[in-house]
Amino acid sequence: MKFNPKILGFLCNWCSYAGADLAGISRIQYPPNLRIIRVMCTGRIDPVLPLEALANGADGVIIMGCHPGDCHYMTGNYEAERKIKMLKKLIAPLGLAERLHVEWVSASEGARFAEVVENFTNQIKVLGPSPLRQEKLDLSKWEGIQAAKEAVEDFRLRALVARERKIIEEGNVYGEEISQEEFDRKMDDALTAEYIRNRIYLILEKEPTSIKQLSKRLNLSSKHVLDHVVLLRRRGLVTVDKIEDMTPIYSVLKR
Ligand code: FES
Repeated sequence: MKFNPKILGFLCNWCSYAGADLAGISRIQYPPNLRIIRVMCTGRIDPVLPLEALANGADGVIIMGCHPGDCHYMTGNYEAERKIKMLKKLIAPLGLAERLHVEWVSASEGARFAEVVENFTNQIKVLGPSPLRQEKLDLSKWEGIQAAKEAVEDFRLRALVARERKIIEEGNVYGEEISQEEFDRKMDDALTAEYIRNRIYLILEKEPTSIKQLSKRLNLSSKHVLDHVVLLRRRGLVTVDKIEDMTPIYSVLKR
């Protein structure tokens, strides 16, 4: 059967939505696969929403807003770009990064809007249906997207993303200069750590498990897993359920 991708688009009211409108009134044809959600600014898009869309069966998600420097709220599109960068890193190990895309389209670019939609639709057609809506769902991918959703809800990561520009331009709270590379490295570490902790939590939520079993499921060293479990215990999210043959079996406490 011919694959007809389901694509969700978040379009800012002032530029890209108006660009879509112009494409419509100019009778420029583009693929009908896009379902549009109008937002006032791309900076207003909660990072959990594109992940929700993918988890709920979208084959692709595109975010379109004003060109850099043209955002009607000054820096909304820069913030959106940083959030998408973070999301792409999180979903890359699940093979989903190419299903998320950001583009800048102005109100006068009706033809370009149609071209962007066509290109992205073709890209998704080449990728095929999302692995998250296959009949035989890969459990690790499902757990992965849920863990990514939980990770972006984390207030520490949100605070870091929100302050990225300020930290790089003005330094951290101790007045130390931080380069973009250093910031990206710290951000990557924080993202990966939060993602792994959420994977651990989701596994333990299903059934009490030992460190050894967790390390096998996640393909990580026992020492690495233990460090995360210790932190989750400190946060009051994980506890020792029982001891079996001298081995602690961990389970979750409700969030
Ligand atoms: S108003 Fe269009 S991206 Fe901010």
